[in-house]
Amino acid sequence: MEQRSLPVQVDIHCHVLPGLDDGARDLDQALAMLRIAVQDGTRILVATPHARRCDAHAVRVTAELLRERAAEEELALELVVGMEEQLLPDLLERLQAGAALPIGNTRWVLVELPDWTEWPVTLPTQLHELCCTGFRPILAHVERYIPIQREPALILDAIQAGALPQINADSLFGQNGYAAQQAAIRLIRAGAASILASDAHSPDWRAPRLRGALERIAALTSPETAEHLRKTALAIVQDQDVPPPDPDRELLTAPPTLLERVRTWVGV
Ligand SMILES: [Fe+2]
Repeated sequence: MEQRSLPVQVDIHCHVLPGLDDGARDLDQALAMLRIAVQDGTRILVATPHARRCDAHAVRVTAELLRERAAEEELALELVVGMEEQLLPDLLERLQAGAALPIGNTRWVLVELPDWTEWPVTLPTQLHELCCTGFRPILAHVERYIPIQREPALILDAIQAGALPQINADSLFGQNGYAAQQAAIRLIRAGAASILASDAHSPDWRAPRLRGALERIAALTSPETAEHLRKTALAIVQDQDVPPPDPDRELLTAPPTLLERVRTWVGV
């Protein structure tokens, strides 16, 4: 009864399927990750192995095996499948052929840039093309791309082309470096981030926890912002339409203030 009254926490980006990519090494590690997620309050978790390292059949079979083991332990968590796809010219073809998996058979597809050091000039066209064929892209861990760290306003290109920006929870705590932390905070304060996810790879490497980051976001901005991020992740797995974010351009482009730098360092 108590659990039912809690808001549903959804993690849409997690490398939990064992042996498919650089995520969970084996079933024991995968189950350990699920236990952490459940303890943290996550009730729906999307397994998103790197698409170039496995195929859709292996994803489904491995997910079913993990579901069975999780059920044996009576873990209160729904496991959904997807893939983390690179934004390459053949992505649409792969989706249409069923080689690439959207999140839980929804319209939503998790994509990442193939090269994190460059902002591709073709990005708006590629994202727009996906949208025109009925898919909706979610751009993974946007704060980790070097061009976004240098020029956060680049995210406007992706938003305008129909993508929802996703931030990694641990970036808010500086686990991916100072530049990623600054970028994550900037994007969230400007209202440019739509989704928070763990991008967990093991119980120790970016563990599947969201609650602390949601609390941090509430403190940095407002409880409503954190709630909006949580609800958007739920809307994704329910295949609902989500309006694009409407960021504050001034906050995106303004240089970080001394106060912002200090707040980032001291963690408030
Ligand atoms: Fe990932």
